[in-house]
Amino acid sequence: MNNTADTVTITNNNSGDTVTLPLMRGTKGPDVIDIRRLYAEFGCFTYDPGFTSTASCDSKITYIDGGEGVLLHGGYPIDQLAEKADFLEVCYLLLFGELPNAEEFSRYSESVTRHTMLHDQLASLLKGFRRDAHPMAVMVGVVGALSAFYHDKLDIFDPEQRRMASIRLVAKMPTIAAMAYKYTIGQPFVHPSNSLSYAENFLRMTFAVPAEPYINSPVLSRAMNRIFVLHADHEQNASTSTVRLAGSSQANPYAVISAGISSLWGPAHGGANEAVLKMLEEIGSKDRIEEFLRRAKDKNDPFRLMGFGHRVYKNHDPRARVLKESAEEVLTELGVRDDPLFALAMELEQIALDDDYFIEKKLFPNVDFYSGIILKAMGFPTSMFTVLFAVARTAGWVAQWNEMSGDTGQKIGRPRQLYVGELQRNFVPLDAR
Ligand code: CMC
Repeated sequence: MNNTADTVTITNNNSGDTVTLPLMRGTKGPDVIDIRRLYAEFGCFTYDPGFTSTASCDSKITYIDGGEGVLLHGGYPIDQLAEKADFLEVCYLLLFGELPNAEEFSRYSESVTRHTMLHDQLASLLKGFRRDAHPMAVMVGVVGALSAFYHDKLDIFDPEQRRMASIRLVAKMPTIAAMAYKYTIGQPFVHPSNSLSYAENFLRMTFAVPAEPYINSPVLSRAMNRIFVLHADHEQNASTSTVRLAGSSQANPYAVISAGISSLWGPAHGGANEAVLKMLEEIGSKDRIEEFLRRAKDKNDPFRLMGFGHRVYKNHDPRARVLKESAEEVLTELGVRDDPLFALAMELEQIALDDDYFIEKKLFPNVDFYSGIILKAMGFPTSMFTVLFAVARTAGWVAQWNEMSGDTGQKIGRPRQLYVGELQRNFVPLDAR
């Protein structure tokens, strides 16, 4: 492969054939080779399982530099957004590319709060689930079912209709998530209250009960807001790529977001903070930390320290520092700093940070290490952790879906394959096999 300024030439060493392909340059990050003409002119596809070397789209929404520990939305660093912005400002930024001014923010927040309620028939649908259903199963079902309520009115090529679908999804996700939780514990659903912020409203719908007044804690809602902001978008990860692929067929957006929720549910994607809690429970006490650290370092032991390391961030996770601050605030507010599980987490974090193995391999606590601790302290069961991730990530999913649907050059997704199966052969009847 020969790389000149703006093209790359590929040579087939057997046939001597060559093809010259354009290099595309973004505003930041590695260039990409435009291989769209490769098959027509060279007769080859590319091979990239997991698409880890393939840019599936161009996008203005999010930029990640894993080596430098950088995450930007619309150019704004994630720690600044997490410290200063309301989640709905970030939703607006992802969807429209700019932070809203005061008037835009007020109009956008009002449109979101106007759509927080669910059609009453959806509550009946939700009540059809088993009480012990995993809340992510309920999310997949109920969000997918929204497509039955908003089907006829949707032309995905109309930006205004896309905006409405995006607003409805952002607005209704916390209501559905809280209902999924209330249903599993047998408490009555709490309706949304439009005078509250997004995070406050969600906490109230989740934890309020009709028998006593609900007192909002600014510390807890600030931490909830941060968790939402920090999980709002992460570029072309598995669930976002699922949303783009499902949406590329022009499918109904509610069904498309339900596909994203399904992808997020997997333990390799949205389930890591739940794994942190399970690991802490397995370690059990401070005197067993050394044993588990030894196991984490042992090549022959599959055990890994959950909540440490990251596939993309190789120096630090820019989301982790602000969340550590929130973890400390929440534990103090709730008076559980001395709780054995949290004390164990803090000790484990310190020992691992001082350990040569973790220092050399640049393994540091990631966002999931702290989010699991915060959510557990707030009273969420571990089965709700991925649900909260889905509520937050809906902001990114709808923004990415909207960007894709508005791009006239976008095609229906259709990856290729390297076929390694049987050659053509003739059918043999059952009694002759
Ligand atoms: N505990 C012990 N050793 C580890 C860990 C860990 N958590 N993470 C990486 N290593 C080792 C790994 O074995 C490898 O060792 P060697 O060089 O001797 O082969 C070395 O560190 C480098 O790892 P890597 O290959 O660069 O890391 P990776 O890209 O394969 O894995 C990871 C990334 C996130 C899958 C991994 O760090 C891990 O399993 N962490 C625990 C699970 C976790 O916390 N996941 C959540 C990530 S944040 C999710 C999000 O962004 O939403």
